[in-house]
Amino acid sequence: GVDGAGDGRVSAAAADSVGATARTPYQQVRATVTAVLVETFSEVFSAADDPMVTSASRAEFGDYQCNAAMRLGKALQQKPRDVAQRLREALEPRLAGVCQVPLEVAGPGFINFRLTDEFVTATLSRMLRDPRGKLGVPAPAVKQRVVVDFSSPNIAKEMHVGHLRSTIIGDTLCRVLEFLGHRVVRLNHVGDWGTQFGMLIEYMRESAPQALQPGQALELGDLVAFYKRAKQRFDEDPAFQEAARAQVTRLQSGDEEARRAWRALCEQSRREFDRVYQLLDVRIEERGESFYNPYLSEIVRVLEERGLAQEDQGALCVFLEQFTNREGKPQPLIVRKRDGGYMYATTDLAAIRYRVQEDGAQRVLYVTDAGQATHFAQVFQVARRAGLYDPERVSLEHVPFGLVLGEDGKKFKTRSGDTVRLMDLLERAVELARADLVARIAEQPGRQEDEAYIQRAATAIGVGAVKYADLRSSRTADYRFSYEKMLSLSGNTAPYMMYVFSRVSGIARKAAGLPAEAAVEMSELMQRCASSSAQPMVLREAAEQALGRHLMRFGDVLLQLESDLMPHQLCEYLFELSQRFNQFYEQCPVVVGADADERVQQSRLALCALTGAVVQRGLDLLGIQVLPRI
Ligand code: ARG
Repeated sequence: GVDGAGDGRVSAAAADSVGATARTPYQQVRATVTAVLVETFSEVFSAADDPMVTSASRAEFGDYQCNAAMRLGKALQQKPRDVAQRLREALEPRLAGVCQVPLEVAGPGFINFRLTDEFVTATLSRMLRDPRGKLGVPAPAVKQRVVVDFSSPNIAKEMHVGHLRSTIIGDTLCRVLEFLGHRVVRLNHVGDWGTQFGMLIEYMRESAPQALQPGQALELGDLVAFYKRAKQRFDEDPAFQEAARAQVTRLQSGDEEARRAWRALCEQSRREFDRVYQLLDVRIEERGESFYNPYLSEIVRVLEERGLAQEDQGALCVFLEQFTNREGKPQPLIVRKRDGGYMYATTDLAAIRYRVQEDGAQRVLYVTDAGQATHFAQVFQVARRAGLYDPERVSLEHVPFGLVLGEDGKKFKTRSGDTVRLMDLLERAVELARADLVARIAEQPGRQEDEAYIQRAATAIGVGAVKYADLRSSRTADYRFSYEKMLSLSGNTAPYMMYVFSRVSGIARKAAGLPAEAAVEMSELMQRCASSSAQPMVLREAAEQALGRHLMRFGDVLLQLESDLMPHQLCEYLFELSQRFNQFYEQCPVVVGADADERVQQSRLALCALTGAVVQRGLDLLGIQVLPRI
């Protein structure tokens, strides 16, 4: 039973001491099971083994389950059920106050764990009262320095939907890691170097020579069209090709005029990229490929010294036996071309060394399309063998994602068959969101919004919709881009989740006796709930229980994301949260009459405030802003 304030205080204290060791409920149960397994079955289980504790597959089995007895039974040549019984007896005293006892042994030897109501309510109070404002999500045992290499478009080329995915996914990963307490370096590995610049500079000399004069502002108009025209000239005229090659050499040797032209090209591209980042509300630091130029020859020296690189038809290559092409022939990593030019991969090797040595990176994430998987596997392998990083202390991870497809499931193109410009795509989403919003406002009698609000809201909804549609689909799968689906106010979409937030916050405000228009932050409302409810919460109805237990999982979802880097799990979690909130709100009146039990009412208000805060935080981690009204 939950009655009696004494009970609640004891378990709140127990939960606080858990706070000191900074663990989520799941982590606590798992750690206890591990410890008990080591003590009880030391001959077949060690601390590094998997205790096989998972979320319960069904609510009626409780909160968590442990399947370790099956494997241990085999190893010990005993019946799994007997092993499970022994484990249960050893566990019970260790989980007092946390799980309901007796624990249940089910099926061939599962152990089911059901958290006590006191533990659940104490955990929720802790989320509500977290002085760090982190909703009870524990700080990591080791704060890592994480480099996230994302977005990374190419100068003078189209920033395409692949770069959009990288930007959206990369930004979310940064936000989650930052929230958990890691130190994150957000890097834009812009493609700002390579032989194509010779062609561009030469074409500039031909078509816009005035731009090469010192002090001249460059206005090349549409850079992508400029690139296409330059490429056409390059392809049709061998004399032009010759001149373009000479420009590459001049650029590399630091020739003033060539440098100026290169800088001008980069600046114009940068201005265009920045417009996209601004609209997306993404912070990123540019450190393009050219940054690593001074380190490339050193990398080659290391590879040669270690006997990893060898000449092949004039090019310098690294052969690794596990990388072969379709015909089964060895597929080398080329680090220097016959003409002496360095490669994309060489820059990545130099970047690894720099990030590890200068930035102190312990984890580096590379967010690119799945098509680059082999490139990264090869680069990581070569870097390891060349001793550019210590795999014991640094983890390099490619974070691949699938393609964006059109609604027809084919390649994503405009109606006329051109590649879609990111700015056009985002502006279109905002425009459509605006039309929906204006129509909604007109339908609601008495509702009026000024232009500034409409503009702000349309931007948040349109951009949020694009982001959420991307993040909610499993990262590695291809997904279909559909304005209609992503902007829908129902289903697992940004507008729906934003609507849920404004509804929850409206309910919470009303229940707290605040006017609907009051500008009260969710966190402030939470604090009020925390301070006004000296008594522990009460979760009587099934719907309250279900909502409370789901809220409690927030930290575990983020920790899962920290390791598997799959943002769609967070979307799933938020969507399910909204469904549980709806059931709760249907079954448990929050604003009740004077005769109502004040403790119940306070507790329900606290559930509302906590739901609002979790939805707001969750959306923020997805890069989506909430609105007071939608
Ligand atoms: N610029 C590359 C592209 O557009 C992506 C760069 C990814 N990062 C890296 N370190 N290679 O495909």
